[in-house]
Amino acid sequence: MLSFASSLDGDKESFAIFVNDKSHYRDKKKLLSKNTAQKINSFLSGLKEKKNNEEYIFSFDISEKQKCFVIKVKNKFESYWPQESGGNFFSYIKKNKDIKKINIYADSLDFERDKLVDFLSQFLFGFNLKSYTFNKYKTLKTETIKQKIDFKVITSVKEKIESNYKYYDAIKEGVFLTRDLVSEPPNVLNPEAYVKEIKKLSKFGLKVKSYNEKDLKKLGLNALLGVGQGSANETYLVTLEWKGKNNSLKKPLAFVGKGVCFDTGGISLKPAKFMEEMKYDMAGSAVVVGLLKSLALRKAKVNAVGVVGLVENMPGSNAQRPGDIVKSYSGKTIEVLNTDAEGRLVLADALSFTEKKYKPKFIIDLATLTGAIIISLGEEYAGLFSNNDELSKNIFQSSQNVNEKVWRLPLHKNYDKLMDSTIADVQNINYAGGAGSITAAQFLQRFITNKTPWAHLDIAGMAFSKKAANLNPGGATGFGVRLLSNLIKKYYE
Ligand code: BES
Ligand code: ZN
Ligand code: ZN
Repeated sequence: MLSFASSLDGDKESFAIFVNDKSHYRDKKKLLSKNTAQKINSFLSGLKEKKNNEEYIFSFDISEKQKCFVIKVKNKFESYWPQESGGNFFSYIKKNKDIKKINIYADSLDFERDKLVDFLSQFLFGFNLKSYTFNKYKTLKTETIKQKIDFKVITSVKEKIESNYKYYDAIKEGVFLTRDLVSEPPNVLNPEAYVKEIKKLSKFGLKVKSYNEKDLKKLGLNALLGVGQGSANETYLVTLEWKGKNNSLKKPLAFVGKGVCFDTGGISLKPAKFMEEMKYDMAGSAVVVGLLKSLALRKAKVNAVGVVGLVENMPGSNAQRPGDIVKSYSGKTIEVLNTDAEGRLVLADALSFTEKKYKPKFIIDLATLTGAIIISLGEEYAGLFSNNDELSKNIFQSSQNVNEKVWRLPLHKNYDKLMDSTIADVQNINYAGGAGSITAAQFLQRFITNKTPWAHLDIAGMAFSKKAANLNPGGATGFGVRLLSNLIKKYYE
């Protein structure tokens, strides 16, 4: 929660100030006592002599009870730096175990008002993103685990910051929902439970509709159904609609997500080591759900739709076999050569369904689709594939803006040929070997049948991480929510 004050509360609470590149501190509002200001200035003169310009957060004791944190702000910085410095500030104070409360002296920022307001909103956004924890299943030592750091913003432009922060807070809520969903264990978040979670979002103004197995059979989404047929848990497809623009003729933006609640590989069973990570295989869908929630929360002036295929890929007596042929929703037949290449089967139907039902302006799908993308790009970039240069350029630009990086890889008819089946229209793996992520994308492209601008983000390397990063504590990252929020706001709203 954002709380404000107009002055420091006594001389016991710790506080943070911003100083400029040259370590100059301006107490424009004369908020601090002369004595405190003097101490700050003498600390800063010591700083100026330090040559290390990598470090930008410092602290010193004003008294035994009061700490002062100093954040040095460069004159020129990347657009995402305010967020990342907020995240780093959280980590910095977290190291001080005794700090439970902090006052952030916003007006010490040496910027004109609008720039100050946006910098601070983003700083708080980053601080909050980094403070995320998923601890609902911890029952021991809860006091230390659940300890939060409270902060108060000291400023004379409270209303401005409050209203500007609303945008970022909506995105934060979306990212947190994505992380929560991805972090849930697979025995809890099965497809049915997931549908229930999504339905809760109706209260924010989203129109949620779910299709169960009976509905899906009737419609002919057999590629999706085939993936779930070995599981005791039912398969679903869920649509989430956000109408933020009155003009109902306006084509919606469509986001499609892979929601494999657990991927054992099916009959093409995965090895035991690290199989537990396959609970994250629904991350693409969780990004779609988090994004749609944030659009509703911030009442985005845009029409958008989210479509997620929710299914569990299990071996079982009724499981799909390697060699099976299924007729997809598009009418194309698919020879399933490997049941572990299931994400593309889920997306094939979800993509054709979305294109036909919504006739969207574009479709962006997100999926933890291939291990091969981790080999190519590691945990730095998501793979981007697209049939449209403009959409691709916009996604790339947004990825740079928020530092959720993507790298475009090629599509080509020669890769496409590798997915031809000898006895069906298409096969689900490339037997020639190589180009695993590209051939997966080629497979998806076969199910975009009306030339709709389409982009596919392979987020297998980005959705979760054992390591912490600037804006997350490790685990589920929520990668994609900030990127797509920026894309919508910058180019389509
Ligand atoms: N869910 C996996 C991809 C994955 C792997 C995500 C590692 C995150 C981390 C996907 O369903 C899969 O198993 N893909 C296979 C495809 C292969 C059989 C052509 C893969 O990447 O090995
Ligand atoms: Zn798989
Ligand atoms: Zn998978």
